[in-house]
Amino acid sequence: MEARRILLIATSGIAAYKVPDLVRQLQRAGHEVRCALTPTASRFVSRLALQTLTGATVRQDLFDPSEEGEIDHIRLADWAELVIVAPATANTLAGMAHGLAENLVGAVLLATEAPVLAAPAMNVNMWNHPATQANLETLRGRGVRFVGPGVGELACGWEGQGRMSDPSEIVAEAGLLLGSQSLAGETVLVTAGGTAEPIDAVRTITNRSSGKMGFALAEEAARRGARVCLVAGLTALETPAGVKRLDVESALEMRNAVMQELPDATIVIKAAAVADFRPEFPEEAKIKKESLDSQEGITLKLVTNPDILAEVCAQKGDRTVVGFAAESGDVVPAALRKLERKGCDLLVANDISRDDAGFNVDTNAVYLLSRGGEVEEVPLLSKHEVARQILDRVEKMRSERSR
Ligand code: CTP
Repeated sequence: MEARRILLIATSGIAAYKVPDLVRQLQRAGHEVRCALTPTASRFVSRLALQTLTGATVRQDLFDPSEEGEIDHIRLADWAELVIVAPATANTLAGMAHGLAENLVGAVLLATEAPVLAAPAMNVNMWNHPATQANLETLRGRGVRFVGPGVGELACGWEGQGRMSDPSEIVAEAGLLLGSQSLAGETVLVTAGGTAEPIDAVRTITNRSSGKMGFALAEEAARRGARVCLVAGLTALETPAGVKRLDVESALEMRNAVMQELPDATIVIKAAAVADFRPEFPEEAKIKKESLDSQEGITLKLVTNPDILAEVCAQKGDRTVVGFAAESGDVVPAALRKLERKGCDLLVANDISRDDAGFNVDTNAVYLLSRGGEVEEVPLLSKHEVARQILDRVEKMRSERSR
């Protein structure tokens, strides 16, 4: 594998004694490694040993002028192509989940745009504690990857889950994260968020979509080396790193942006919640109450919006097109009919009647339906993990087709 720049962060757990071995194994895999420590981690692993192995200053103190002079914490965060936290204590994971920057490691973890891989290590009860589990859930939802912890005899005398994974497993997981430039050369067009259909100058018809699923897909596609264009409807989300974003409001604007970008796209993913109808004649000014007969109320005539996904599918060519389906009730049969009707290659079906999946939450549970009637159930996972599974499937479909 190509040499990559890895920042290895050790925190103060007894498993830190394995960190020099981890450094060596990462170096043997061809990577350039730098180390950083939490303030007390050097009680468990020698700073001098890590400095000798890496040939670079081991950063530990956010406010030390000589350390900051050599490589300041923001440059260190930018330098890394992957950050590994091993061992990751319950305390450091809690700090990461809450965005604390009270020490050098916390600041670097907030500042970095690199993927983060954590190898937790702690007492089994600390691991099982609802606070730790809630922090892990938050971090997973933000795309942090975990390796371990394993089950076995723990340094504290207890038996159970809490052992840091072996350095060889951590190196293998890092390889997976770094090696996947699997969408290099592809151009991915993603739509995300809800549309807003104007009624008048201030009012719209919109829906509950947050855009999280589409943004997670755009982020993951960019991480895999694709050029990504994200056509974003209404959403409060930040643009993922390396992604070109076009903001739109109405379904008609979304259609125009998609059609403009379509010629360059090799993969199209339509995660947006597009309004099916729009007011036929939106008022340019604000509709005033006194202009209406208040007893009668107001009747809006809605007309049908263009079906962007169907239009894209009608000119699909060699592209791989992924649609989404928001369904309640009998999800799979309804979604299979939608797949047929729209003509896409893959349909991701959500059950919108669940509280923990679909609109405006961080998790999703979906069915992946492909042409030919194949149905795969993906259990409740973070939207980032669901995005990975969707893109894994797209890659598989494209490689099978090119064979
Ligand atoms: N879609 C679209 N243009 C529309 C409506 C939907 O491109 N005018 C796309 C969505 O982005 C999604 C898929 O079509 O990828 C299915 O959307 P969904 O709302 O589930 O289905 P509809 O086609 O609107 O059908 P229905 O509302 O009857 O379920």
